[in-house]
Amino acid sequence: MRSIIFLGAPGSGKGTHAKRVSEKYSIPHISTGDILRENISRGSELGKLAKSYIDKGELVPDKVVIDIVRDRLQRADCREGYILDGFPRTVAQAQALDSFADINTVINLAVDDNVILHRITGRRSCACGETYHTDFIGDATTCAKCGGELYIRKDDNAQTVSNRLSVYYSQTAPLIDYYAKQGKLVEIDGAAGIDNVFGSITSALED
Ligand code: AP5
Repeated sequence: MRSIIFLGAPGSGKGTHAKRVSEKYSIPHISTGDILRENISRGSELGKLAKSYIDKGELVPDKVVIDIVRDRLQRADCREGYILDGFPRTVAQAQALDSFADINTVINLAVDDNVILHRITGRRSCACGETYHTDFIGDATTCAKCGGELYIRKDDNAQTVSNRLSVYYSQTAPLIDYYAKQGKLVEIDGAAGIDNVFGSITSALED
């Protein structure tokens, strides 16, 4: 059973590496951000609520995301393991998670703020879940995986990123210490190249 959390600031590479780890070990990648955005595009009640927070770079209320994750982990595909990307994000979420899940490993991707700003403002996303960076794809407008049209996330602008970073430092960064105390934390240099970061993550998971 591999039950893994990807911790890290916005743009640190959680989604990029969670997807790769999910494919390598055939375990589901559960991103609370993706679940919330999917609800926004469907126009569900949850989506309407989430949008008002996400567009400002604020966190969606704890109870909402805790209920989403608790339900999702009950599905059969989580029996052999799962990757949580973007959850928990507050100490209250981590405490709730402790009450209904047994986490093995917490990967913390450490990346400087200036690198984060560059990564997020150059990110291009596809509805299929794939993400790219203009450094690698230039001005391409279609997804190499599914041919879908690439778009810029509404919260991927410099002003919202600055708020997301301050929310990260005040509410999410304390989880580094929380999981270090539980002996589950693995620190990874998230600023290295994508393949190097992935290599460090898989070595840590196989240790
Ligand atoms: P969420 O979708 O989780 O966004 P986030 O945490 O801000 O993280 P990002 O998706 O922006 O970045 P990432 O770390 O996945 O980086 P990526 O791999 O794409 O959440 C969005 C919002 O939803 C939140 O603000 C909040 O409102 C709400 N929400 C979600 N979960 C919540 C929760 N638990 N509680 C309350 N609210 C919640 O990489 C970024 C870019 O860099 C990409 O372009 C990528 O190609 C590139 N890149 C990645 N790694 C590298 C590398 N090593 N070298 C070069 N480029 C790289």
